[in-house]
Amino acid sequence: MKFLITGGAGFMGSNFIRYLLDNYPEAEIVNFDKLTYAGNLENLKDVKDNSRYEFVRGDIADAKAVAEVMERGIEVVINFAAETHVDRSILGPRDFIMTDVLGTYTLLEAARNKEIKRYVQISTDEVFGSVEEGEFSEQSPFEPNSPYSASKAGGDHMVRAYWKTYGLPTIVTHSCNFYGPYQYPEKLIPLFITNLLEGKKVPVYGNGQNVREWIFVSDYCRALDTILDRGEDGEVYNIGTAYRKTNLELTQLVLELMGLNEDSIEYVPDRPGHDQRYAVNSEKLRQLGWAPELDFEQGLKETVDWYKENESWWKRLKSGEYLKYYRKQYGSA
Ligand code: NAD
Ligand code: DAU
Repeated sequence: MKFLITGGAGFMGSNFIRYLLDNYPEAEIVNFDKLTYAGNLENLKDVKDNSRYEFVRGDIADAKAVAEVMERGIEVVINFAAETHVDRSILGPRDFIMTDVLGTYTLLEAARNKEIKRYVQISTDEVFGSVEEGEFSEQSPFEPNSPYSASKAGGDHMVRAYWKTYGLPTIVTHSCNFYGPYQYPEKLIPLFITNLLEGKKVPVYGNGQNVREWIFVSDYCRALDTILDRGEDGEVYNIGTAYRKTNLELTQLVLELMGLNEDSIEYVPDRPGHDQRYAVNSEKLRQLGWAPELDFEQGLKETVDWYKENESWWKRLKSGEYLKYYRKQYGSA
């Protein structure tokens, strides 16, 4: 089976490429990635010489480049490529619209022209907005609240339209928050771990009572594998673990694992439009035979250890400039 993995140089895309190569000896992979600030080929240095792996630099919104890469006998497209950071989308939505909406459309159009076997859209629970109690189901209405989630929702709607209108065999997945090795140190968990390793404080937005649901890399890769194997065309699958924590609870766990206390917390002004709570109902996926295996605190410990052992990886990415920039925009507490 020949896969086109877009955004494969990013956090979860690179982890999933390694998972496919390790678990499916017949899998061949073309990694198509623009290499934005979040794309890093070092994430895949262990597989770069694998004869079943190839990297092509390109933009999913570039119709010519996408059509060319599709000529390589692609059978399945998995679209991980996206602008992914909510804070960046608040500062400037344009790149988000270009990649997450226009890029998705461009890929869909190329996939339709080549009559591929399947197109999988990697999307987020954030398209459903905030849920004060209960859980999102696959039928919950889209109520995106940030330019990031609105852009993802736009892309997801196009995927649905290509299934309904043209019969393109598509699947959409809505996942909760990822964490684990190779996550860019702008997202909560890697930002906080690396700040603490640098002897800095961790910036908790608002009162820290916002709730997120978390999935570790290995559980996510198995979930997507299950969907690829047993999911049905035209369907939508939520991916969730029910490991739900307030940001403050999570911060306290990270502090504990690192032998520190709440003196390292700095409360900063809240993110504009900050969703209060995400909670994903993943019963439909569980019916396919998947369940999370890694306990949340164990996953967090493995993540802390990985960042401790891979200081050169994150130090080079973490110039500190983006943090200063955000502080300037939102102000300091
Ligand atoms: P990431 O930000 O780590 O990496 C994104 C990758 O996409 C990078 O390699 C980047 O270079 C590439 N890219 C960006 N724009 C591109 C373009 N126009 N053309 C080609 N490549 C481009 O991403 P991540 O956090 O691993 O997220 C992967 C996917 O999963 C995204 O679609 C995201 O919306 C979705 N998702 C993320 C999370 C999360 O917690 N991070 C949760 C649910 C869903
Ligand atoms: O829910 C899935 C989504 O999870 C993905 O679709 C996104 O791509 C991914 O970035 C993530 O979005 P979040 O906004 O939930 O992730 P982030 O790590 O930016 O923030 C997690 C929570 O922590 C959120 O409530 C905001 C808060 N936060 C974040 C940062 C970066 C802080 O309190 N301080 C911070 O410095």
